[in-house]
Amino acid sequence: MSTASSSARILVTGVAGQLGRALLAAANRPDVIGFTSTEWDITDPDAAARHIRPGDVVVNCAALTDVDGCESDPERAERVNAAGPGRLAAACAAVGARLIHISTDYVFGADPDRDRPYEPSDEPAPISVYGASKLAGERAVLEALPEATVVRTAWVYTGDRGGRDFVSVMRDRAQRGQTVRVVDDQIGSPTYAKDLAGALLVIIGAGVGAPIVHAANNGAVSRYRQARAVYAAIGVDPGLVEPVSSADVPRLAPRPAYSALGSYESEEAGLTRLRDWRAALDDAVTGSATAPRH
Ligand SMILES: NC(=O)c1ccc[n+]([C@@H]2O[C@H](COP(=O)([O-])OP(=O)(O)OC[C@H]3O[C@@H](n4cnc5c(N)ncnc54)[C@H](OP(=O)(O)O)[C@@H]3O)[C@@H](O)[C@H]2O)c1
Repeated sequence: MSTASSSARILVTGVAGQLGRALLAAANRPDVIGFTSTEWDITDPDAAARHIRPGDVVVNCAALTDVDGCESDPERAERVNAAGPGRLAAACAAVGARLIHISTDYVFGADPDRDRPYEPSDEPAPISVYGASKLAGERAVLEALPEATVVRTAWVYTGDRGGRDFVSVMRDRAQRGQTVRVVDDQIGSPTYAKDLAGALLVIIGAGVGAPIVHAANNGAVSRYRQARAVYAAIGVDPGLVEPVSSADVPRLAPRPAYSALGSYESEEAGLTRLRDWRAALDDAVTGSATAPRH
């Protein structure tokens, strides 16, 4: 298990994204340096070697997360989500740097009857180009740098006002008193970016004893029930949220019916279980949130 030395720099790619921003804010330290996609394009073959120094810890938050966009442009998905992370891992291996790579619950999803949270020992089976490209990324990372840590997470949101994530959008609709139709047949583990950032700081500082861990807020819930929880949290009638099936709102890429992540094996590897999804959501939408400090 490798850990960050006191002089290690922490380099965060994809820092303009939800998780990158949350990580930078949670760390709030001058040795944590963020890079936007313009400053460090992870598909650029020369960029990693320019940025990474021996002893650094690289946290790869960069990804193509537009699930439908990946479906329509599989080559780009492969470049950003698979080849790019593989290149980062090779560059880390070459100079003696650590890599923490973020992946997704969408590496699972092919089992229509699943009703038990997935653990790292479960066999991945993605059903979308996005999921397949992220799985290829995990494998490319661990092949080039077996000491790397892959951190799978799920249904990430910030809940920020004006944000484009699910929780932000639902809060906006609720505040306008709007009715929404939300799918009731997709179940996952909604994860507050601030909580995930806290878990990443633990992994940066202390390491974990497994190559793949799951870090998601605890529990499993449908999008419909998650949306109702947002409405309820800000005192708007949850009855304004109407359940629909995925077949009623066709998307380019299929979504897993069930992709909740379990924390059992990750706790054994040394990661503290994240709090329940509902407590995190309440914090995020009522604005009383404070990221857990570790
Ligand atoms: N969002 C979710 O619900 C979710 C669920 C499970 C797992 N994850 C994983 O969690 C991680 C963080 O996701 P997020 O929610 O923070 O995503 P996000 O908000 O979409 O941020 C991703 C960031 O990656 C950057 N990026 C894209 N292509 C890049 C490239 N070639 N080089 C460098 N940066 C690039 C984007 O920059 P530009 O905007 O400039 O392109 C963006 O700032 C990803 O690995 C994702 O797969 C996310």
